[in-house]
Amino acid sequence: MQDHITNIPSQYEAIATTTRQLDFSMASDLYTGSLLKRLVASKPGGRMLELGTGSGLATSWMVSGLDKDAVLVTVENNALLLSVAQKNLRDSRINFVLEDGYKWLTEYDGEKFDLIFADAMPGKYDLFEEAFSLLKTGGFYIIDDMLPQSNWPEGHAERVNAFINHLENRNEIVLTKLNWSTGIIIAVKASVKK
Ligand SMILES: C[S@@+](CC[C@H](N)C(=O)[O-])C[C@H]1O[C@@H](n2cnc3c(N)ncnc32)[C@H](O)[C@@H]1O
Repeated sequence: MQDHITNIPSQYEAIATTTRQLDFSMASDLYTGSLLKRLVASKPGGRMLELGTGSGLATSWMVSGLDKDAVLVTVENNALLLSVAQKNLRDSRINFVLEDGYKWLTEYDGEKFDLIFADAMPGKYDLFEEAFSLLKTGGFYIIDDMLPQSNWPEGHAERVNAFINHLENRNEIVLTKLNWSTGIIIAVKASVKK
């Protein structure tokens, strides 16, 4: 089996070029994007949430997995980065939200989601309960960067381990840890107890 990525979204390269010009170093990789597309495609008519749009690299993969009735809400607090995503990903199924993720997570009272890609502090290491409560039963909660990364600040490794322990000890969460890409966890909100 060859571990190479195909069917890269058409907008990806333009976004990646601008991302490099902006010197944005926290971009999601191709593996994460490719996996997200498949998981999004498993939820026809579904509602997807991305926390931390960045410049839209993962967003481009996610939108390429949406069917015609599915939607994606993506939240980012950096106007410049979000504008790169918006400019390159013109699609009526995407709701780009320029807002602080902490504020958005505490105030959102709309419909729940079928998949959450939590790629910012809020919704992952902070306000996890608020984010997870927005996930439907059977929904996917996805996180990357769970293997040691060169840009981790001091003390982050301990925080990562504590978060993984927390996820593993939750009764209603079933998860798989992928030692692949930057380290991905696929967690499902299960209706049955482990
Ligand atoms: C790991 S990067 C996201 C990468 C992106 N998903 C991609 O595909 O390249 C994290 C993003 O979260 C954003 N962010 C950080 N703090 C935030 C906050 N409080 N609210 C919303 N977004 C935040 C950062 O500006 C950054 O773009």
